[in-house]
Amino acid sequence: MADAIFDLLVIGAGPGGYVAAIRAAQLGMHVGCIERESLGGTCLNIGCIPSKALLESSELLHQAQTTFQRHGIQTGGVELDLGGMMKRKEGIVKKMTAGIRGLFRKNKVTHMEGTARLQGNGTVAVESSRGTETFQARRILIATGSSPIELPGLAFDGEHILSSTEALSLSTVPEKMIVIGAGAIGLELGSVWSRLGSEVLVVEFLDRITPPMDREMSDLLQKSLEKQGLGFRLKTRAESAEVKEAKVQVRMAAGEETVEETCDKLLVAVGRRPNTEGLGASEAGLELDDRGRVVIHERFETNLEGVFAIGDVVAGPMLAHKAEEEGVAAVELMAGKAGQVNYDAIPNVVYTDPELASVGLNEEELKEKGVDYKVGKFPFMANGRAHSLDAIEGQVKVISDAKTDRLLGLHILGSRASDLLAEGVLALEFCASSEDIARTMHAHPTLSEAIKEAALAVDNEAIHI
Ligand code: NAI
Repeated sequence: MADAIFDLLVIGAGPGGYVAAIRAAQLGMHVGCIERESLGGTCLNIGCIPSKALLESSELLHQAQTTFQRHGIQTGGVELDLGGMMKRKEGIVKKMTAGIRGLFRKNKVTHMEGTARLQGNGTVAVESSRGTETFQARRILIATGSSPIELPGLAFDGEHILSSTEALSLSTVPEKMIVIGAGAIGLELGSVWSRLGSEVLVVEFLDRITPPMDREMSDLLQKSLEKQGLGFRLKTRAESAEVKEAKVQVRMAAGEETVEETCDKLLVAVGRRPNTEGLGASEAGLELDDRGRVVIHERFETNLEGVFAIGDVVAGPMLAHKAEEEGVAAVELMAGKAGQVNYDAIPNVVYTDPELASVGLNEEELKEKGVDYKVGKFPFMANGRAHSLDAIEGQVKVISDAKTDRLLGLHILGSRASDLLAEGVLALEFCASSEDIARTMHAHPTLSEAIKEAALAVDNEAIHI
């Protein structure tokens, strides 16, 4: 006998699950959301939000130490209070988690603490300190997210060999940190600890950093990070690590050569894997692909009738906003609405300084697809606001179709590129041309004028270069 009956049971309260639960409740469903840890999932507790808090704090410290004088500000001695910085970060997370609890109350979503297990026929067992309870639902939405990949030979010990979770909460600044993986996590957390005083070396298997991004933009970011003091070892595969007397010895292969490096902390950021353990996937007969992701068919439905899945646990980029959009679309479709996700307009941001932000296709992808395209670029060096902000690094790259001028991609390396990118996402959604962007009035003086100028540059009409 089930303890309660729901229209929808959402498993996981990360940005995919909690947003889907709220939207479903708005649409009139009786919704329960099961979460084994804190509300908000990886993003809010040990991912996007705490990392952005530390990135902001460490950037301010770095500015106070290096660039304030250029503004005519003498600070005297500036010191790091790492405990204070961590406390601020934790305070933000606490506030945001409480915010979700409030939203659940407001929308009458039932929050259940515990680990959910599929039992078949719309039944979910929830294990918690209260024991096992059973719930019945007309539909189940799996939004269990992902966890850091652990490499054989480089197993996390939480003290010296770290995942992103521990690297967000160190109590002292390591003298030397090696980061394995030049993706978003490696570069963002590498930047934090570098700004706080660590010597940081990033080891990357490929011959470039931030692989899904436009190559030229990634190379420019690498140069900026090198100027800030981050070291890079590309075309190098980390193979194993050993902890000896509180130091980590890392063995790496660079072609035929074996290299060893020693550090105080090793951060392994080589991607994430879908969370399906404990879900009862095999007993329930839930179809997974060769990478352990839940296979979804039309309308986000799995091979089990009435069981749906979204976010990091299914295929596609592991991004909070992609999970959110999928969650909303999935429950709207359940409610008979026309929910949809535009997978061609997923923004992607790396929050380094400068930030690297991208939407649509990059030059490498267009070449591979054989599409004829035009490119317009504009450097922030030629933008007045960038000078007043002391943020002249980077450039904007607009790519449009050679024949139709339809926008194909927007790539921005620069200060607040994350926020600037929204214009490109909207332009792609509206099938705008580069001329549409070029003829749109942009406020002066703003960084966004660089996007207009890059759009003008597509037809060699930029004014300020
Ligand atoms: P990633 O998949 O983005 O990058 C991992 C890198 O590690 C790759 O470049 C890969 O070539 C390299 N690598 C793998 N094995 C290696 C080895 N043995 N030695 C050297 N290099 C090796 O993974 P990351 O940064 O851990 O991020 C995981 C997911 O989380 C991604 O999907 C990412 O998009 C997402 N994320 C997004 C953020 C954002 O939007 N700002 C922030 C943090 C994570």
